[in-house]
Amino acid sequence: MTPLDLTPDELLTTTRSVRKRLDLTRPVPLELVEDCVRVALQAPTGSNRQSWHWMVVTDARQRASIGGYYRRAVREYLRSEGTCASLFPEDPARHAVQRRVGDSVAHLGEHMAEVPVHVIPCLDANDAPEYNEAGKWGSIIQAAWSYMLAARARRLGTAWTTLHLMYEKEIAELLGLPDGIVQAALIPTAFSLGTRFRHAARQPLERVLHVDTW
Ligand SMILES: Cc1cc2nc3c(=O)[nH]c(=O)nc-3n(C[C@H](O)[C@H](O)[C@H](O)COP(=O)(O)O)c2cc1C
Repeated sequence: MTPLDLTPDELLTTTRSVRKRLDLTRPVPLELVEDCVRVALQAPTGSNRQSWHWMVVTDARQRASIGGYYRRAVREYLRSEGTCASLFPEDPARHAVQRRVGDSVAHLGEHMAEVPVHVIPCLDANDAPEYNEAGKWGSIIQAAWSYMLAARARRLGTAWTTLHLMYEKEIAELLGLPDGIVQAALIPTAFSLGTRFRHAARQPLERVLHVDTW
């Protein structure tokens, strides 16, 4: 498989949450996922502990169970106050983007079970200092984002999702995770339908950049 010819900045600025453009019919070779995880293992971890574990779920029945929990969580979330689709009502342009995000989230909610590979980056929280949440999550989230970048370079689409954590305990039990292993995300992984993705419209730099004083 020839990797996509992207500059570092192109890779970083076009790795989008892929939900509607996941190819649910094309199998993903396990070796490709392993290659992405191998890249991810180059990410930094606090004290170089490398207390990560990577659950890669390909079994259709396991995916159906996880997908069922995910669907319930998404439906609950989209009914709740403060859902992504309801944000920024005062700004029509921004609100329209949020509504599209909500629609896309709903779509993945209905189809998670059909996504050929579910990747759940985990951390052994037994090793993590309790007083330092940033130190704990920083030791898995950076690696998981590297996984998503490596996947994009290999023509795979992914999305960072966390709503399954409403049922974290149930999913941990389903997958046989030992006590103290926490889940950072659920990353659906499939070939993307097409490989061109755009920059996202973000809030301008000036609004968030502070030089020397706030
Ligand atoms: C902490 C976090 C949690 C997220 N949880 C979900 C989720 O559960 N489901 C989902 O479809 N997207 C989820 N997203 C994806 C965001 O909706 C997405 O990153 C955002 O809309 C920007 O779109 P983009 O990633 O395509 O640039 C999450 C992203 C982050 C960073």
